[in-house]
Amino acid sequence: MKQSVMTSPGVIEFRDVPLPVPASTEVLIRMKRIGVCGSDIHVYHGKHALTPYPVVQGHEVSGVIEKVGGSVRGLAPGDKVTFQPQVTCGTCYPCRHGAYHICDSLKVMGFQTTGAGSEYFAVDASKVLKLPTRMDLEHGAMIEPAAVAVHALGRAGDVSGMKVLVLGAGPIGNLVAQAAKGLGAAQVMITDVSDFRLGKARECGIDLCVNIGNTDLAAAVKEHFGEAKADLILECVGSPQTISQAVAVARKGTDIIVVGVFGDKPVLDLGTVQDRELRLIGTLMYREPDWKKAIELVESGKIRLAPLITDHFEFADYKKAYEYIEANRERAMKVMIVVEK
Ligand SMILES: NC(=O)c1ccc[n+]([C@@H]2O[C@H](COP(=O)([O-])OP(=O)(O)OC[C@H]3O[C@@H](n4cnc5c(N)ncnc54)[C@H](O)[C@@H]3O)[C@@H](O)[C@H]2O)c1
Ligand SMILES: [Zn+2]
Ligand SMILES: [Zn+2]
Repeated sequence: MKQSVMTSPGVIEFRDVPLPVPASTEVLIRMKRIGVCGSDIHVYHGKHALTPYPVVQGHEVSGVIEKVGGSVRGLAPGDKVTFQPQVTCGTCYPCRHGAYHICDSLKVMGFQTTGAGSEYFAVDASKVLKLPTRMDLEHGAMIEPAAVAVHALGRAGDVSGMKVLVLGAGPIGNLVAQAAKGLGAAQVMITDVSDFRLGKARECGIDLCVNIGNTDLAAAVKEHFGEAKADLILECVGSPQTISQAVAVARKGTDIIVVGVFGDKPVLDLGTVQDRELRLIGTLMYREPDWKKAIELVESGKIRLAPLITDHFEFADYKKAYEYIEANRERAMKVMIVVEK
């Protein structure tokens, strides 16, 4: 079978490798779709500190089960599936306390271990999630980022009835905003500097879309949410500017969920965090319940994925996908690699 191997930043080779034989606890998946995300792009540019080369990418994926190992129950050939890409130790403190997503020696497929960028992929059945039979496999490959959004919101507890402010309308901010609505938030406002991306948010049913390039955030918050401002803020950019905005506009005593990944260490007004009793809360990836909730939100139409999928590339054109994203940063929201139609 063909496997795409990134041998060094920007260089992708297609190699012929043996078809994997699933171990007794594994399933063999015939790969269909791979979504490209921001972290993949960092790897492509050699700017992902935690990823050595060569690396096989692919962690936002979907496929159809081809074969199941002898001791696998509840999964069968023909099932549409996706899977959690974390590889965890099972013995560290977080793992022993149900927080495997923040395992002390966390590895992620497509970064520190082999990803699913091949025609077939064998993975432990415990990581696999069955997709509803009617779900488009294209959407199946986006359960991963949707689970990121569900988990991020879960860090704030129950968001129902809340007025939620989401900074950044990239795929992650968009999905956070949609998931917030889907989980019962009363009002959701999203910001970006790109009218194109705000247009996508609107298309996905987010009504309060604010271009922060030409609007004062504090004024917009006051106008839409009133004097009580936002009940919850999620930073989904990873820039010093947006995390500072979050701190500046937060109502006293509220939570700011830090979803964005920061390249540089931002200078932040911690005096305000202290004085206003703000809580800065981190969030990393997801756990299985987040995936199940994400599947439910997509299946019930509360999260719309179609507007986010902007482009497609054949498996053999993996590198072209990166070149395209590079040249179309704003318009390329979710680019899909079609491993098999
Ligand atoms: N915590 C996690 O587990 C997790 C998982 C996946 C991604 N992430 C991170 O989430 C962030 C968002 O991911 P993405 O794929 O949507 O990235 P993205 O780069 O596509 O989107 C970021 C958006 O922020 C917008 N932006 C830039 N400056 C802004 C400003 N001042 N105000 C408002 N918006 C602004 C950009 O126009 C863009 O639309 C990234 O930092 C990514 O690494 C975190
Ligand atoms: Zn990703
Ligand atoms: Zn662990």
